[in-house]
Amino acid sequence: MLANGRSYLAIPGPSVMPDAVLQAMHRSAPNIYTGALHDLTHSLIPDLKKVARTEGEVAIYIGNGHAAWEAALANVLSRGDRILVLVTGRFGHGWARMAAGLGVGCEVVDFGERSDIDLARVEEALRADSGHTYKAVLVTHVDTSTGVRNDVAGVRAVLDATGHPGLLMVDCIASFACDRFEMDAWGADVAVAASQKGLMTPPGLGFVYFNDRANAARDHADLATEYWDWRPRIRPEIYSEYFDGTAPTHHLYGLRTALDMILAEGMEAVWARHEALAQCLWEASEIWASDGPLELNIADRSKRSHAITSFAMEEGQADRLRDWCEHKTGVTLGIGVGRQPASAFFRVGHMGHVNAHMMLGVIAVIDAGLKALDIAHGANAVEAATRHVARVVGA
Ligand SMILES: Cc1ncc(COP(=O)(O)O)c(C=O)c1O
Repeated sequence: MLANGRSYLAIPGPSVMPDAVLQAMHRSAPNIYTGALHDLTHSLIPDLKKVARTEGEVAIYIGNGHAAWEAALANVLSRGDRILVLVTGRFGHGWARMAAGLGVGCEVVDFGERSDIDLARVEEALRADSGHTYKAVLVTHVDTSTGVRNDVAGVRAVLDATGHPGLLMVDCIASFACDRFEMDAWGADVAVAASQKGLMTPPGLGFVYFNDRANAARDHADLATEYWDWRPRIRPEIYSEYFDGTAPTHHLYGLRTALDMILAEGMEAVWARHEALAQCLWEASEIWASDGPLELNIADRSKRSHAITSFAMEEGQADRLRDWCEHKTGVTLGIGVGRQPASAFFRVGHMGHVNAHMMLGVIAVIDAGLKALDIAHGANAVEAATRHVARVVGA
C-alpha cells in the first residue's frame, strides 16, 4: 500500500548500487583487445590495494565469492594437506566444506553462532599441532549469517606467539570496504573479497589478495589449475592476451566508479560511516529488544560487524516482519541464512552505498512493522536512533 517509490534492498549483499555505478556500466561493449579498457584495468589494481591496505598482490577473478574462496585455496594448498578452520557461522562452514571437497583435511573449531573466535582455543589448537601440519588457518572476518566480527590481528598474534608457520587466510567478503581491514598491518597472508557488498558493484567479480609468503606456497600447491592460478591474474594485460577468456567488461567500468567514490570519501571516513550507521541501528534495536521477543544475535557491540546485523525472534515472526516491510513499505530485509528455524531470524545489511536517511528509514519501517504486527517491543527506539544521528553529525 505504501510500497511504491524507490525500494531499498537492505540485505547483506548484493547491496544498493549507486546511480553513478549503474550509469558507468550503461554503455555498449568496449574493444577488449586494446585501448581504454586496459588502461582502466591497470588503474583498478592500486586502488583495490588501497581498500585492503596492502602492498601485496591482487588477482581479479570473474566469479562470486565462492569462486574467490576456491581460487585462494587452490593457490596455496595440495590434495592431502591439512588446515585449521575457525568457524563462527554458516560461511566459515562453507569455506571448510569447499576445502574438504578439494581433498584438503579440515580441522574445524566451531565457536557457535552467537560469539566470536576465542583466541585461547585457537592457541590450544595451534600448540596441539606441534608438528606444524596445518598449512593454513582460515578465518571469516565477518560471518554474514551471524553478524559477528572476528579479531584477525588477534589470530595473527596467536600464530606468532606459538611460532606456527601456517598461512593466515581471511574471508573479507562481507566486511570489505565496510569494517576496518588492514591486510598488511594485521598480518593476513591471503584475503578474499567480492564485488557485491561494500564495493557497491554487481555480483560477479572476486578478488584474492596475497603476499610473498602466500605466493611462495603457490610453488608447491598442486590444486592450482591454469584457470585459477593467481600469478597470471595479477597482470592486467591478461585480458588483452586473451589468456583466460573475455574480460568482465561492464563490471570493470562499474568497479572503477565505485572505487572512485570510496577513495574520494577516504577509507577512514568509509569505515567511520559504517560504524556510525551500525550504531544507529543498534541504538534502536537494543530498545526494541528490551521489552519483547526481538534479540540481537551478538550481544557485545564490540564484536558486531558494521556491515550487517543479525536478529532473532520467535518462530514465524521474522518472516512476517520481512514480508510486511517489503510489501507494505518497499524495504527488503535479509533472511535468516544458516539458522533454524529460518522463520525466526532476519538480517539487516548496512553495507556500501548507505547513508543516514536510509538507515533511519529502515529503522522506522521495522518499528512500524512491529507495531502493525502487534509484536511486543521497547518504546521510543526511533527516537534513540535519531538522537544518535544528531549526536554523531552535530550542528
Ligand atoms: C562472509 C561471506 N563469505 C562468502 C560468501 C559467498 O559469496 P558469494 O555469495 O558471492 O559466493 C558470502 C556471501 O554472502 C559471505 O557473506
